[in-house]
Amino acid sequence: MHQFPPSLTKRMLQSSDSNWLFEIRNNENFRRFFVNPNPVSSVEHQHWFESLYSDEISQFWIFELERVRVGYLRVRVSDEDASEVSIGIDPSFQGMGIASRIFAQTRFFEMDSKTEKFVATVHKDNLKSLKLFSRYGFINPREHSVMKDFLVLEKVSD
Ligand SMILES: CC(C)(COP(=O)(O)OP(=O)(O)OC[C@H]1O[C@@H](n2cnc3c(N)ncnc32)[C@H](O)[C@@H]1OP(=O)(O)O)[C@@H](O)C(=O)NCCC(=O)NCCS
Repeated sequence: MHQFPPSLTKRMLQSSDSNWLFEIRNNENFRRFFVNPNPVSSVEHQHWFESLYSDEISQFWIFELERVRVGYLRVRVSDEDASEVSIGIDPSFQGMGIASRIFAQTRFFEMDSKTEKFVATVHKDNLKSLKLFSRYGFINPREHSVMKDFLVLEKVSD
């Protein structure tokens, strides 16, 4: 019997996720607020994926609805006292509340108890993302010191 809404399950990154990540990365709606909004080649993607897959400090989670990949959450140690959070939802599943469900079920400080704060770097025009992060406790937006089109938000407790 199907549950409604279907439960959102979380698992660690696998090598078989590479093609899906490549596809969503190059979707126009997905990449437009990235620091590098241009499409990437399969070689560039392969390098990126290999460094992601071998990174033992950071965490990269894949979320699925009934075994279908719908999104990811990345928590990357960026400096001694902060970890950088980024999230991506497959464009076919955006606008359905999935990112909100991921944030609602994530306890950042349980995932990484060593960090003092979590930060998110978000394009000023990425209203969905700004709304999402601020709703889940990422506050004090300030302009990025180098990338003037980006804001940095921070979260200091769950
Ligand atoms: C940003 C992103 C993660 C949002 O995921 P999503 O599953 O579509 O988001 P949700 O459906 O949970 O909606 C999040 C919030 O945005 C709002 N929203 C949805 N569509 C919107 C739109 N077109 N304009 C403004 N706000 C919108 C929702 O109402 C919700 O806010 P609420 O909780 O106050 O109602 C997704 O669009 C994405 O992956 N974008 C590409 C990658 C990216 O930009 N990542 C963020 C930078 S780290």
